[in-house]
This record gives sequence, C-alpha cells and structure tokens, in this order.
Amino acid sequence: MKFFIDTANLAQIKEAQELGVLDGVTTNPSLMAKEGITGKDNILKHYVDICNIVDGDVSAEVISTDFESIIKEGEELAELHEQIVVKVPMIKDGIKAIKYFSDKGIRTNCTLVFSPGQALLAAKAGAAYVSPFIGRLDDISTDGLNLIAEIRHIYDNYAFETEILAASVRHTMHVIDCAKIGADVMTGPLSSIEGLLKHPLTDSGLAKFLEDYKKGN
Ligand code: E4P
Repeated sequence: MKFFIDTANLAQIKEAQELGVLDGVTTNPSLMAKEGITGKDNILKHYVDICNIVDGDVSAEVISTDFESIIKEGEELAELHEQIVVKVPMIKDGIKAIKYFSDKGIRTNCTLVFSPGQALLAAKAGAAYVSPFIGRLDDISTDGLNLIAEIRHIYDNYAFETEILAASVRHTMHVIDCAKIGADVMTGPLSSIEGLLKHPLTDSGLAKFLEDYKKGN
C-alpha cells in the first residue's frame, strides 16, 4: 500500500519524505487555507514547492464546478509539474472532466467519494485515483472502511485500473484496516504514519537492551 500524506504543510511533508516511506501528497483547498496559502499565484507556487520535496504524485484540487472551467483550471495545474494529479470533485461536470482528462493523458483523482456507485462512475470515466473519505463517513456513524471493501470488490470484479486512495484517514487503525482490505493508497496526517512506529514493548525492550549493554561495558 502506498503512503500519501494529507497536508499542505511543507515541514511535515519533508519529515515524512525523510522517513523514506512517502509515496505522494494530497492537498485540498481547506488544507491550503490552513497553511495560510491564499491567492492563485501563491497556491500554484506552493504545489511546485511540494512537488520538489516529495518523490511521487501530488494531488492539486480544482475549485471550479462547471465543465469548461474545470478543464481550464485542471490543464493549468497539470502544466505545473509532471507529478501533479488533478483532483476533481465527484459531480456531474467533474465526471465529464475526468473522462476528458483521461482521454488527454492527464491523470485525475476523483475526490469527495462516499458511495460505491460514485466510485464505479469514477473508474469508468478513467480516474487514476478514487478518494473515498473514510473518516467523514465514520463521523456520521457510517462504516467508512466498509466502503473501501465494497469498492475493492467492485474494482476487482472488472479489473479497473483506478487506484483506491483511502482518504480522510484519521489514525493508525484506519491505516492498518485499509492495508488489510487492500486499498492501493492511504492518505492521512503525519501522525497516522508516525503512529505506526509506536509500541510500548519496543520502548521497554530497547531500554532493557541498552541498560544490559551498559552493565557489560
Ligand atoms: C483527501 O484527499 C482529503 O484531502 C482528506 O483526506 C480529507 O480528510 P478530512 O476528512 O480529515 O478533512
């Protein structure tokens, strides 16, 4: 399973990249705003900065919602860097745009996916990635991981090439469960990646090894 980090924070992206297990980055307009990145030029520059840190795909989201504008904005984003994947919302004009981009060889990430039917449409339109939001479903008492399992089943039935990018991952158990189900990618905060390192028996075991080493030296 590929690990993407879901942030526009350059320091956190660097930290994950240095760990050596990072495969890409996802961003969205809210994450950009959280970092204080506003205005078109600053946002475009920030995408390039991210691409220059990470070795992998970087999702850059369009804010347009009609077909013509999505195409114009997406083409501009795709021109920025070869690592850019154009993130398009799961709406009618978004699906048309994903098909258009796919025919032109521009890779897309279909975002804000909350049902198996939406994921099926994204795959048929030729999205490179589909982003089902696990955490936001859990937030409304609906099993987000079950959606990942349903999409996995459907995509395997027809050998769709669209990669399942489990999004809105909130913690380490989401990561582990996504890996068990067979999501192709997960995107989450740095804490969901670094949290995988932790186990109290590792800490106490290491402390004991170091203590015993000191006794003998
Ligand atoms: C996906 O690409 C989104 O950026 C993201 O995972 C949303 O997560 P949230 O529900 O924690 O905001």
